Amino acid sequence: MIARRELLAGAAAVGALAAAPAAFASESPWGLGVENAPVDGYAPAAMRRVHGRAPSGLEGSLYRNGPGWFRYGSSSTGHWFDGDGFIQRFAIADGQARHSGKFADTLKRRIEQQRQEIVFPGFGTRGVRGAPVQSPDDINAANTSVMIAGGELWALWEGGSPTRMNPETLDTIGIRPFREDLAAMPFTAHPKVEPNGRIWNIGAYGQRVIIWRLAANGVLEDAQVIDVGSRSYLHDWAVTERHLIIPLQPWVHDRMTAPMVDGYTWHGDQPFRILVLDKNDYSNRRTYELPAMFYFHTGDAWEDSDGTIRFDLCASPNAHFVTEQARTMLQQDSGETPSAELALAVLHPDGRAELQRSGIHGEFPQTDRRRQGLARDLVVIANDREVSTLGLMNWRTGASDSYSFGAGQMVQEHLFVPKPGASGERESWLVGVTLNERERATEVHVFDAASISDGPVVIWRSRYAAPLGFHGTWRGA
Ligand SMILES: [Fe+2]
Repeated sequence: MIARRELLAGAAAVGALAAAPAAFASESPWGLGVENAPVDGYAPAAMRRVHGRAPSGLEGSLYRNGPGWFRYGSSSTGHWFDGDGFIQRFAIADGQARHSGKFADTLKRRIEQQRQEIVFPGFGTRGVRGAPVQSPDDINAANTSVMIAGGELWALWEGGSPTRMNPETLDTIGIRPFREDLAAMPFTAHPKVEPNGRIWNIGAYGQRVIIWRLAANGVLEDAQVIDVGSRSYLHDWAVTERHLIIPLQPWVHDRMTAPMVDGYTWHGDQPFRILVLDKNDYSNRRTYELPAMFYFHTGDAWEDSDGTIRFDLCASPNAHFVTEQARTMLQQDSGETPSAELALAVLHPDGRAELQRSGIHGEFPQTDRRRQGLARDLVVIANDREVSTLGLMNWRTGASDSYSFGAGQMVQEHLFVPKPGASGERESWLVGVTLNERERATEVHVFDAASISDGPVVIWRSRYAAPLGFHGTWRGA
């Protein structure tokens, strides 16, 4: 029997605490992107082409997910990560782009809409006294990423189940249980898909990790629980052809308090451990150590013929963004945290580990997903802090390319979209979204991966500013 989740214990602890009202000041540069979306979302509407022209062959949909509802009157979520999941679709066809968006119809959202207040506890939200929480899925915000599986669109959180949605209408179908006895187990927003379609994912609770293995159609093949010996915050991870790579950072959940984020402690004197498991035998494992650092996201991993494992990650000196800025950005601008630096972790067969820094800053690393777990050269990152920039790093050559959006644009994750009939990484478009603060509008930008410094080949603009998101996926037409 699998133990009850930390989040549930946290929810019980917070039952005695009242939600702290928070005033909202939209002077923050983040303000535009953390306002409530329209309650019924956005009906499909044409975006205006404001630059260039659509490249021939670019046909499909970019789906993105992120928090889109934060407050009812004076009742507010306490952290960016706790807003209701708002799924946006940017459908590109016949040289035109259409935008639509809809909230994931979660239990949390239904009850809070009915009561017109923030009721449930979350990562950085206390919730109200007596919030009706029986299961992690009762507080599932479905707000972090999306994936396509079995013809469905799944809205992903990290503390509970995927939420199934219709990829055409964005209507919610319901929670996705993999097996009755595994109901509401954590499933991160960063599943890894092998080139053959097999899906791997993990979910963390306490110092345990559940390892999910699904067929390409989303049906469960296997689930096992392992003890990783640490209560590290675990948001993203990596796989190679033969191994699962679980980074264990020294930001540790060592106190049961409310909100949950306050129970984490930064242990800067402890190493950043990396657990490497054999995909065929999880008891066959090795541990590597690097100096203390904080991360949210990895790129992908690969393995050389001599057994050397490499994976990229966006590394920060500490957890300041998640403990401070991601809360205060909902109320006021209290100063920006410097963005993370892209780095390559190298795990040698003799047990040594090293970190190669790139000098390029940003977040939301993305690679050509056809190569997940396989050797590749490129990774793209978005920097929305000091200067809004898209950066492309080539680990093989050490060369980088970048494009600066200038002031007043917040750049979000950009995905590799293969050009039709092409197989090289550079033979891709990079498709992503920005929030144009001057125009108060959401934009889609498309770059040619071979020359991003030339600027976008096409830009489409909405008539409104939709909420910022975290992660997305591309579904070709
Ligand atoms: Fe993420």
